Amino acid sequence: MDGNGRWAKERGQDRVYGHYEGVLSVREIVDACGDLGIGYLTLYAFSTENWNRPKTEVDALMELLVSTIKREIIDLDKNDVRVHLIGDLDSLPPACRDEMDEARRVTADNKGLNLIIALSYSARREIVEAAKKLATAAAQGQLNPADINERLFEDSLETAGFPDPELMIRTSGEHRISNFLLYQLAYAELYFTPVHWPDFRKKHLYEALLNYQGRERRFGKISEQIQSNSGTHA
Ligand code: FPP
Repeated sequence: MDGNGRWAKERGQDRVYGHYEGVLSVREIVDACGDLGIGYLTLYAFSTENWNRPKTEVDALMELLVSTIKREIIDLDKNDVRVHLIGDLDSLPPACRDEMDEARRVTADNKGLNLIIALSYSARREIVEAAKKLATAAAQGQLNPADINERLFEDSLETAGFPDPELMIRTSGEHRISNFLLYQLAYAELYFTPVHWPDFRKKHLYEALLNYQGRERRFGKISEQIQSNSGTHA
């Protein structure tokens, strides 16, 4: 969800104003994904690197996250959305952590859209933590290192149990991954749009999805193999 700061600056406003407007886009995109029957939506709301921003902006963002979740939780629940969190949640201010935990608890039985909020998230940290977990199990004799495979590694990531993303959308004209789901994005289709996040609405999501539908996902195979198999896979 990039471009909030630039969007605000272009309007002569403080960067935080862009984050407030960005919440309206979050609302609309979550609604649209639910309506479309999309199973999983991950929002990169705050990276570990974002802690290095000016304290006033970080504080405002944390307050915004708390007030947004507090306000939206009833509607999210009504819409059968299940909230999940990934990231270094211990580093969050207690008020933010508590509110997020509450959202997780309230929506735990919902069966619609899985909304994964990446908060204080770093893909490198996640991968290192997974390696540490497996190494500890091996050192304690609970795991044979020879048995470590992709499946086991994936089960040690914070996204264990979630499917790999099929499409990654980055707004605001930057062509980078910025430490987001580095392992999980191995075969994702990447979509970049110049639209700043506060302007990114349903219409832009549909454009991204249409673009995705026009792509051929070969997963290392050749085009003819994919075409001859089409119709045989759900
Ligand atoms: C990136 O734009 C955006 C963020 C760091 C914050 C995004 C968070 C929200 C919109 C609130 C989300 C709320 C929920 C409940 C998930 P930027 O500040 O890096 O923009 P810039 O690149 O133009 O400076």
